[in-house]
Amino acid sequence: MTGGPTSLTQRVAIVTGAARGIGAAIAEQLVCAGAKVVVADQDIDGAQRTATALTKRRGQASAVGVDLADRQSIEAMVDQVRQDLGPIDILVNNAGIMFRTRFADIELDEWNATLHVNLTGPFLCTQAVMAGMKEAGFGRIVNIASSAGRSVSTLGGAHYTASKAGLLGLTRAVAKETAPFGVTVNAICPGLIDTQMARDTTSSEELQGFIASFPAQRLGTPEEVGNLVVFLCSDQAGYITGASVDINGGDLMI
Ligand code: NAI
Repeated sequence: MTGGPTSLTQRVAIVTGAARGIGAAIAEQLVCAGAKVVVADQDIDGAQRTATALTKRRGQASAVGVDLADRQSIEAMVDQVRQDLGPIDILVNNAGIMFRTRFADIELDEWNATLHVNLTGPFLCTQAVMAGMKEAGFGRIVNIASSAGRSVSTLGGAHYTASKAGLLGLTRAVAKETAPFGVTVNAICPGLIDTQMARDTTSSEELQGFIASFPAQRLGTPEEVGNLVVFLCSDQAGYITGASVDINGGDLMI
């Protein structure tokens, strides 16, 4: 490794759900830190646009299509990245979906879809990269959970809160088993971040109300989440594992 303490020069990183929003910002910050980044998303055109823009402006990024609800698609993605770029050092499980449906009205299909993308997807992606990370004696997994997982979702339904709480449990359990191999596994718990998902699911009046209630009096930015990911992926953060790191402008303090 070369560069400063948070340099990720030559590290190979996969970021799921990176076509837009928080994932795209994470991909950008990782590229800026020197990593070779794979923008993985079910929206392959969006992933391609993001990867092309990052490569033009910043460094090395490529795109791959993946559906996190499909095991074969995940395994094909990981195989392709290994073939194209070599061993995978960093996995950011960022892709997620949220429905606002209230508990009594949640249909089983919607429950299953939420759990598949938000929890089973990260489980399968992590399993797919873990053997290589153990063999290398280095790995960084970062799971993008939510304040919902620490407490209860402001907007999302019970399925969203359950999936994110489950992701925090997965983070701790995998961290405990893989720490002896030099692999760290951490979760980031964002509060309300200014993305398409937040704007699609919230009216502007609601947003203003939330902002007024936050100690920081604003939404978080995707870039702020990206910076935190870079730190957790760095050599400097080697003793941080199994942690759930809050980034919420003081909205939730526990
Ligand atoms: P977004 O909706 O803007 O972007 C999500 C990306 O994931 C999209 O590009 C979408 O195509 C991709 N995706 C969805 N399902 C997929 C699947 N089955 N396979 C592959 N890709 C898939 O969302 P945003 O706001 O950027 O959120 C990113 C993560 O951060 C999510 O896990 C979300 O739960 C979490 N989060 C977001 C917060 C917010 O306020 N925006 C707050 C707390 C957590």
